[in-house]
Amino acid sequence: MLGRTLVRRWQGAHTLFVADLPECDVTAPESLEAAFGAFRPEAVVHCAAMTNVDACEGDRERAYRLNAEGSANVARACVRAGARLIAISTDYVFSGDEPGERAETDATAPRTVYGATKLAGEDAVRALCPDHVIGRVAWLYGPGGPSFVHTMVRLAREDPARTLTVVDDQFGNPTSTDAVAGALEAILGRPELRGTFHLTCEGVVSWCGFTREILRLAGLGGVAVRPCATEAFPRPAPRPRHSALSKAKLAAAGLPPMPTWQEALARFVPAEWPV
Ligand SMILES: NC(=O)c1ccc[n+]([C@@H]2O[C@H](COP(=O)([O-])OP(=O)(O)OC[C@H]3O[C@@H](n4cnc5c(N)ncnc54)[C@H](OP(=O)(O)O)[C@@H]3O)[C@@H](O)[C@H]2O)c1
Repeated sequence: MLGRTLVRRWQGAHTLFVADLPECDVTAPESLEAAFGAFRPEAVVHCAAMTNVDACEGDRERAYRLNAEGSANVARACVRAGARLIAISTDYVFSGDEPGERAETDATAPRTVYGATKLAGEDAVRALCPDHVIGRVAWLYGPGGPSFVHTMVRLAREDPARTLTVVDDQFGNPTSTDAVAGALEAILGRPELRGTFHLTCEGVVSWCGFTREILRLAGLGGVAVRPCATEAFPRPAPRPRHSALSKAKLAAAGLPPMPTWQEALARFVPAEWPV
């Protein structure tokens, strides 16, 4: 989903090489070598991952192979090619137990296989590829989906008379792939920047509050939304209560601020579902 947005925004503006399965597999180092050798990238944005959080819980081995070893393979290939690596990571590296915003320097404590394997991927990038930026994103949606936004619009359109029951005690920064792309453009324009940056939209909301705004923007504000507690939706992977990420480091680096989640969503919904 993020890769799709980057391709749409950057095609034409840059000499872009888009690598994807099956010919380019992050778990197969030789396929990376072939792709990097042919293209000789200056910079690589690594978006590939096993992103289904519940599936990761059920297949730890595959999650580790993709998220940890896959990132290590990309990092090694970048070093060999002399390319800068921008690796995408997640709020799930934190426990999510503490209210408020997490800073890049806060202690990590993943509670899920997904989070633990993504953190192992981050660690591999740090250890193997000095010229790297790790961009942590969260609550992501973008053209084509799949995403929470797509699910809510689909459910509300299917049956506008239904009541949508949505968790109201998990809080985060809903973030558009477009906003992340903007931040990545700024980072790519600053080759001296290295390290970990939080790249989520500004402002904090619950899934329930997020749903109400999605439906309002989609012209589905009449659909009833009922708040519920996390316990009402037991999932294989526990969800973090507090996912919000601080962008103080982004500001300190002189990078442009992220849009608010409301601004980003207001740009996205009418474009994805024109009325
Ligand atoms: N979505 C979110 O809410 C969210 C939140 C926090 C962080 N992130 C991070 O943001 C990044 C982008 O996420 P996204 O939502 O755009 O995920 P996505 O749509 O699931 O994209 C991940 C892509 O990786 C591909 N892939 C899987 N195995 C691969 C392999 N062995 N080699 C090469 N490619 C492979 C997938 O292909 P298939 O579809 O064919 O498997 C998929 O196209 C990921 O690093 C993710 O961890 C996402």
